[in-house]
Amino acid sequence: MKQILIIEVSPRGPVSASRAVTQKLSTRLRGEFPEAKFVYRDLTKGWIPHLDDNTLKAISSKRPEEVQANKESARLSDQLTEELLASDLLVIATPMWNFGIPSLLKAWIDLVVRPGKTFTYTETGVLGLAKDKKAILVVASGGVFTEGSWKSWDFVEPYLRQILRFIGIENVQTVRAEGMNIPLLAENAVPNAEKAIAKLEL
Ligand SMILES: Cc1cc2nc3c(=O)[nH]c(=O)nc-3n(C[C@H](O)[C@H](O)[C@H](O)COP(=O)(O)O)c2cc1C
Repeated sequence: MKQILIIEVSPRGPVSASRAVTQKLSTRLRGEFPEAKFVYRDLTKGWIPHLDDNTLKAISSKRPEEVQANKESARLSDQLTEELLASDLLVIATPMWNFGIPSLLKAWIDLVVRPGKTFTYTETGVLGLAKDKKAILVVASGGVFTEGSWKSWDFVEPYLRQILRFIGIENVQTVRAEGMNIPLLAENAVPNAEKAIAKLEL
């Protein structure tokens, strides 16, 4: 394990469930992989932009002169994409917001899901290029989505699994801190998720 990339999205600092669980996960990972380089990306610090016209031209235009003319605008996307490709394990720690992922995480995804870098088109269809990687999703939610009538409202885990598969990451495990807004469940949500960390196959 050369590099582990950890993406954090909750702005709630010390009271964040996804961050608390990820901290425990980091401790296990550091114990299992003492030689690995850990790269932490906190998306809440105001440095991640949405795609604009120049960046889009730089990262997805089919016209080489357009790509060249906008090269500078691709710098952050280049850096984040290379960081992802250089990692053997990706950890995404995210809250559920309005049944989906926070837009900051979507902005990161829009910068790293790149034709020619993390996926490509072939005669037989799309091919993911982010090969030989694993991912762990840490998802915190107010309600319960792994079972029961709200299951189909979960647009976090199915979406993240789908987009990771699209770029070639098929080995995905999930740890969930769920029921954070349900009085009877909230107290045990983080401890249960922390227990689940021990069961992850690394
Ligand atoms: C803006 C916002 C939207 C939310 N939307 C949902 C939701 O759709 N479903 C849900 O179960 N919980 C929702 N919650 C509750 C959070 O998922 C819950 O508080 C979770 O613990 C947040 O993760 P964090 O503790 O890592 O910040 C929402 C919270 C906020 C602040």
